[in-house]
Formats: sequence, structure tokens, C-alpha cells
Amino acid sequence: MVEKYDIVIRNARIRGRPYDKTFDIAIEGDRIAKIADKIEGHGGTEIDAKGRLVSPPFFDMHFHLDSVLTVGDPRFNESGTLWEGIEIWAERKKKLSVDDIVSRVELAVKYHVAYGTLWIRTHADTTEKTLTTVKGLVKARELFKDFIDIQVTAFPQDGIMTEPDEHPELMRKALELGADNVGMIPHNEYTREDAVESIKFAFELAKEYNKDIDGHVDETDDPISRNLEVVAKYTLRYGWQGRVAAGHVTASHSWDAAYRYRILPLIRKAGITIVPNPLINIHLQGRFDFYPKRRGMAPISLYLKNGINVALGHDCIMDPWYPLGVGDMLQVLFMAIHVDQMLGWTDLFKALDLITYNAAKAWRKGYEDYGVEEGKKANLVILNGLTDVDVLRIMGPPLYVIRNGTLVADNTGPERELKVFFKGKWEVVNPYYEKAIETKI
Ligand code: FE2
Repeated sequence: MVEKYDIVIRNARIRGRPYDKTFDIAIEGDRIAKIADKIEGHGGTEIDAKGRLVSPPFFDMHFHLDSVLTVGDPRFNESGTLWEGIEIWAERKKKLSVDDIVSRVELAVKYHVAYGTLWIRTHADTTEKTLTTVKGLVKARELFKDFIDIQVTAFPQDGIMTEPDEHPELMRKALELGADNVGMIPHNEYTREDAVESIKFAFELAKEYNKDIDGHVDETDDPISRNLEVVAKYTLRYGWQGRVAAGHVTASHSWDAAYRYRILPLIRKAGITIVPNPLINIHLQGRFDFYPKRRGMAPISLYLKNGINVALGHDCIMDPWYPLGVGDMLQVLFMAIHVDQMLGWTDLFKALDLITYNAAKAWRKGYEDYGVEEGKKANLVILNGLTDVDVLRIMGPPLYVIRNGTLVADNTGPERELKVFFKGKWEVVNPYYEKAIETKI
């Protein structure tokens, strides 16, 4: 009897298997039913991968969906600095509404899916006192849950102990409103003592609500911003190993050798995932340096060599801090491996782990179902290359994206269109920013 499947992908290289062979992949329902050299039978949808690489889809492990796509509103950032960005955002924040957030998130998630990212961990600013950001992002998470998985982190942008009567309570309310993870920003507290107290508070809250922790930690070029060690201490004390991510950690770029020697084993022991944001770090850090300028990105290969998990985040797309981006995690990865000099031949074949398996480990939910293997959830991307090397050379969107057995992006159209399957129908996603045409140059 000839088998019939929902989708059959033919002639695919599969990441993690020998590249001198191609395979057929059959999908039935939301699962990968079969992988074999040749599958007899046929699919309702047949895709010829022509030897291209199939990988599990990407994660964006650190992203600010509340500010996404607000570039130029109320004005553009001319200095390109973090500080001008903060001023612009303070003005833009006053106009936030749930609908404003949801409509911007809708376009941002379409970009992400078109470019092969199916999981986004986002931060919602809880020091914005109406908690509109939390309400907007929790609503967006629910509205788009058939299209993409979003986790919302309660993120105290202006610190927790900076307003001890209000900010801790706002964090609690954010969790009551449905936030998934507890955030923190200890390097933005007024003193070291407050930073330690804020970390302790975050762990207490995480314990009370049984939540994972995802902090902004040591996002500065100051090498004596040493909050990561405190996060590691409390991770061990609370038994939260494997449940804590530390975003940015740019200070670790500037640590001296003696400190590195002491701290790296502690981070490994605590099972903390480090989440650099290469596009934003290389753009915003090193701003107090003349030349030579520090790169200001957490040293990825150093962490990996020391057995510490590292995943990546896009952080921003077209907002007051970063005017570029289209939700392509390959751009993020491309920047990461250049900044940290990870272009050794064997390294190139491991690079994709930073936006796939390493991230899946930190995301935790569904980890056992992640990967292109028989019986696992049918989540995969067909990338534009024969191997990892081509993918990183050629870049650009994947040809196809499949989520839970459904084809959700098809970028093979003749006009180089990005096309997503959103709420039951195919639509073209416009990647162009037309307002820029008005710029006087
Ligand atoms: Fe961030």
C-alpha cells in the first residue's frame, strides 16, 4: 500500500546527520512521521529541497516587542546612542496603548516567522506604571499563539529598588497579569546593595510564582559591574539551575583574567544561559572608548569553552535604539561569529546551535520535542544552502518554514516576496520601510 502523508520533503540534507547523504522527510499531522533515504508514498504537499539544509527553526531569546517598529516616532535617533534612545522612548511611551502594541507586534511576528523564528522571549517594561506593555504583550501572545510562541518577561527597565514602594509591586502585578518569567536589571539600580536586593527580590518572586528568571545583567562596559556572580549565587541557593538566563552581560567582555578564572566555573555550576544581543551590543557598547574601541559583546566562545550555555537575541528591530533589522536571526548570528572570531572551519558547523538547540534548552518547554527526528514535532526550516557554511554565506530568508506540521512561510515566490500563512490565509509581508523615502539626504 502506498502511504499518503500531509507533507513530504524530498532530497534534504539534515543538520546533525552526515552531509554526504540526502533524506526524505514525511510529516503527518503535527509530527515528523518518517525520515528515510527514500520515502515511497506521497504528500498532500510535496517539496523538493534540492539538497538544501533542513534545520529545526530558530529562537529569538531576547527581544523588546513593546518598542518594536516605533523608529522615527516621535523622532529618529541621530547619535545612535543608548541615551538618546532612552530619551526618545520616554516620549513614545506616553502614547502606548494595547492596540498600538498589538498591531506592531503583529508585523514583527510575521517578520520573525518568515525568517524562520518560531519562538520569541520578549521583555515587557513593568516600570511603565499602567502596565500597558504587559497587557499588550500578554494579549499579543494569546492572539498569535497559533502562529508563534511568545514568552513575556516582566522587565523592570528603570530598576526594582529605585522605587521600592512601587516597582516591586508592579513586578508582582505583571505576573498576576500573565507574564511568564521574572526579569531584573541590577546594573541600573542605584547602588551595589540595591542591586543585590533586587536580585534577591527577583528570586523570591520567581519562587513564589514558580517562574524562570530572565534578567538584563551587567549591560555595561564597566568590568566591575559584577551582578552575574550574585545571580549565580542565588541560582544555587534557590535551586534554580537551568532556569536562569542572563541577557547582554557585556561587562564580561571587559573582565580581567583573574576574575574570569574565578567566575566562569561558578556560572557553569549554576547552569545559567548567557544571552548576548550581538547587533545591539556592537552598536551601543564601547561608546566611552575612543580608538581602539572595545567590541562590547559577551565573549561567546569563552563561555562555550567553559561549558556554559549561550543563546542569542535580536533585542530590537527598528526602534529608538536600533534602526535596522527584519527579524532575521541569521543576521544576529552572522554578527556574533564575526565579533567573537568564530569563523574557524569546524566552528562554522556549530554556529547554528546558538539560535537553535542552545536556545531550546533555555526555553525548556518542549525541549524533548525539538529537533528534526522521527516522532518529534514537525517544526523545521528549509534553509538556502547545502550546508551551514552556505547558510552563513548566502543569508536571507529560508525557503520554507513549517510549524507544528503546517507550512507557515513560503519565500520561494518570483518577486522575492516573504509570504506567511496567518490566521488561515496566505499573505505577503512588506519588508520595506516607506517612511525613509521622506528623508532629506
Ligand atoms: Fe534588552
